[in-house]
Amino acid sequence: MSEPTGLLGEVFADLAARHPASLRGAQEARAIEPARFDATAERYLGWLRKARGDAWLTSSVNAYVQFSTDVIFAQADYEDDGAYAHDSFAKAHAEVYSQRHVMDEYLWGVYLTNFLWVHHMEIMRFFQDRFLAPLPANAHIVEIAPGHGGWGVWATASRPDVDLEGFDISPSSIAIASSIANAAGVSDRVTYTLRNALDLAVMPEASADAVICSFLVEHLEQPDQLFAVIGRILKPGGTAFITGALTAAQVDHIYEFRRESELIVLAEQHGMRVRESLSVSPQRILPKAKFLPRSMAMAVTRCAHGFW
Ligand SMILES: C[S@@+](CC[C@H](N)C(=O)[O-])C[C@H]1O[C@@H](n2cnc3c(N)ncnc32)[C@H](O)[C@@H]1O
Repeated sequence: MSEPTGLLGEVFADLAARHPASLRGAQEARAIEPARFDATAERYLGWLRKARGDAWLTSSVNAYVQFSTDVIFAQADYEDDGAYAHDSFAKAHAEVYSQRHVMDEYLWGVYLTNFLWVHHMEIMRFFQDRFLAPLPANAHIVEIAPGHGGWGVWATASRPDVDLEGFDISPSSIAIASSIANAAGVSDRVTYTLRNALDLAVMPEASADAVICSFLVEHLEQPDQLFAVIGRILKPGGTAFITGALTAAQVDHIYEFRRESELIVLAEQHGMRVRESLSVSPQRILPKAKFLPRSMAMAVTRCAHGFW
């Protein structure tokens, strides 16, 4: 495999120079499908550089390394305690989502995990092939909890016919996702609004052709309510891309999913058929781990006739 060039080459060189322990995971992510990885990374990094300006490289790599390190420590505590550290949404909101500095760093870090973490790169491939490619023409997409905006902006940049409305509870998300949309040149088809996802239950029924909801469900005390919202706003026959974390700790993960079937059942209980799913884990985990951290992605379809 040739060495990465361009902006990705700069990221790999910076990791090698300042955070060599973090380079191996990124190389593993690239090795799955180098051409797709390079194309995905170059696009994400181009938007990142435009959004953040000259200091993009050091500040973003620092945020990524800090976020990845925090996740490893959270997982180690979870291994010891057998439970996530927090179970209160109010606490996560007060200490993380509403704290501009904390959340900005967190979201820039998560943005890079979309391709630098091997299991997230696998989910990115699933998103591109199994959700985005079959999306119908002129789809209206609702994105719930866009965070950094990387998923929805990827969708709108790849498909000039679609538009997107995003809702997140964090002011950082609204600012960062808007800056990424602007950098990608899709602001005219994308809006972001500060709102609790659970308040979207008041949105008109069957108003979205598609929903993107990535890594929110484990942040909620009652994930069932989120699936009710998605089932309500999706048009019959409409599709959703939903991801969630299982036995994977993080400062703001409060609902512990243990089995893939739990997410599938939640979708089914709210009128959605799981067309395809993918459950992936990092290639290396803590020694003697009891819990295998996984990320699961689902492509679901809103049933039109009861059960299909
Ligand atoms: C881990 S980030 C996920 C970001 C992005 N979707 C991704 O997949 O990388 C979780 C996001 O959920 C948002 N969030 C948490 N609780 C929420 C709620 N009740 N309503 C809306 N957004 C929420 C946070 O502000 C944050 O942006």
